[in-house]
Amino acid sequence: MKLKSTINNIISSALHEANIDAPMQSVTNATRKEFGDFQYNGAMSLAKSLGLNPREIATNITKHITLNIIEKVEIAGPGFINIWISNDWLSKELNVISKDINLGISRDKKNQTIVVDYSGPNMAKEMHVGHLRSTIIGDTLANLFEFLGYDVIRQNHIGDWGTQFGMLIAYLEEVQNEGRSYEELKDLEHFYKLAKAKFDEDISFANKAREYVVKIQSGDSYCLGLWQKFIDTSLTHCEEVYNKLGVKLRKEDVRAESAYNDMLSQVIKELEAKGLIKLSNGAKCIFLPNSEVPLIVQKSDGGYLYATTDLAALWYRSQTLNAKRICYVVDARQGEHFRQVFWVSKEANFVDKNTSLEHIAFGTMMDKSGKPFKTRDGGTVKLIHLLDEAIIRAKDTISSKEQLDNDVLEHTAKVVGIGALKYADLSVNRESNYIFDWDKMLSFDGNTALYMQYAYARIQSILRRFDGELEGEIVIKNDIEHKLGISLLEFEDTLTKTADDAMPHHLTSYLYELATLFMQFYESSPILKEGIDFETKMSRLLLANLTANIIKQGLSILGIEVVDKL
Ligand code: ARG
Repeated sequence: MKLKSTINNIISSALHEANIDAPMQSVTNATRKEFGDFQYNGAMSLAKSLGLNPREIATNITKHITLNIIEKVEIAGPGFINIWISNDWLSKELNVISKDINLGISRDKKNQTIVVDYSGPNMAKEMHVGHLRSTIIGDTLANLFEFLGYDVIRQNHIGDWGTQFGMLIAYLEEVQNEGRSYEELKDLEHFYKLAKAKFDEDISFANKAREYVVKIQSGDSYCLGLWQKFIDTSLTHCEEVYNKLGVKLRKEDVRAESAYNDMLSQVIKELEAKGLIKLSNGAKCIFLPNSEVPLIVQKSDGGYLYATTDLAALWYRSQTLNAKRICYVVDARQGEHFRQVFWVSKEANFVDKNTSLEHIAFGTMMDKSGKPFKTRDGGTVKLIHLLDEAIIRAKDTISSKEQLDNDVLEHTAKVVGIGALKYADLSVNRESNYIFDWDKMLSFDGNTALYMQYAYARIQSILRRFDGELEGEIVIKNDIEHKLGISLLEFEDTLTKTADDAMPHHLTSYLYELATLFMQFYESSPILKEGIDFETKMSRLLLANLTANIIKQGLSILGIEVVDKL
């Protein structure tokens, strides 16, 4: 049920009936209770373009609004149309969605493939906080598209190709030959440093490293074997993070940079055939309109670049995977890179003209003092440690509230800690930088996962105390039930908007508002109190239950779990 779209359709028919031929401006949620549930503010701009009085236009429109779903309309101020939804209709719709396992959301197959490119860690280095943001946001978008019925293909474009691997496998070979254990590989950052130090001071090692680069790229099986071992070990670290984080990326979703190696010469040939390539200092470049720097696709020594691989990946995703929308969940600082490869991929016909290519950019994660998030000595924060800390801190926070058995406490701490970390990231507009603050994210108050999980647990506790079958119907009677009901019917509008804009914070804002309305409802409308008649009790229990189900579903799209007791 898309409540807002339903109201928009009614207004749009009224415009049509009133012979007003103009694009429809969407209704908005009313800003104050006195203004009803929704407002249509389009009369003012129509007045300007039609050269008429806005109040007259508003009167003309309201005359044609069919009353049924809408109970009444009022014109206010210069020509605002205030809209009230009927309680009878609201009750009826709420009963429909509360009986539907999909909560009234149409999950019909959309027959459209969406590729979500996210996480994409580099195998030579430890996963850093930038990859954490990409992993969290990307997974949410993939979950959401899936829930809405799209065919979703997750792609983990890991960085496993490039000159540094020569050095790394030469060093790995030494570790093996000396019979040392792979312990050193557990800390990739450290391993990289050791290899680099050796590379800088030992000429014969450096030469071997260079030789190995050429060998991997020309398919030498000995070197590729070493390389594979290195990649497998690094990927195991990433998987540990994915598992702890509860994201759905699997081994099958990895399509690494190296997977496109065989396509690269073809990419260059194609670009040349289309006349897009110019030589500059021996390098093959593409000069784009409105771009100061050209896109280099092949270096003068014949080596390919990050961009060349991304062009091959675009080609593959469009032609082989048949994607109609491709979302790249990558740090905002790669904006220019994506603008360039997107443009080239369309110009070269690697991608159909009407395929939507989107850089889902996100800002930097900052510490409380507003500096990029680092360890005390300026190094990268190990993600796995960050996740562990979230769980430990969550345990502290929740043990002060409810007495839980030990294993329940462990599980709850995980759900709360990981939930807090994800929610804190997802609840800010992804394009802005975001400040990482443990205290804020683990607060019971405010726009946090814990607040939502607490609202959910509270409803479960009411249902436990009631301890019976839910029967009867939702019957909306008072103002707060009405507001809660409207919000419940806006779930699908919210999901659609979140998916269209690829902005997870639309969903978190919605859930926060919903949970807040529920708390108000709960405080003002007793459910289990003595003396409440059966019909009212059932109606309120059903409303509470529906709220819990929507919170649970919304959080699950965000990759966050709930618990029954908190
Ligand atoms: N490995 C890249 C990085 O760490 C991210 C990959 C993003 N995806 C892509 N298709 N370029 O910056």
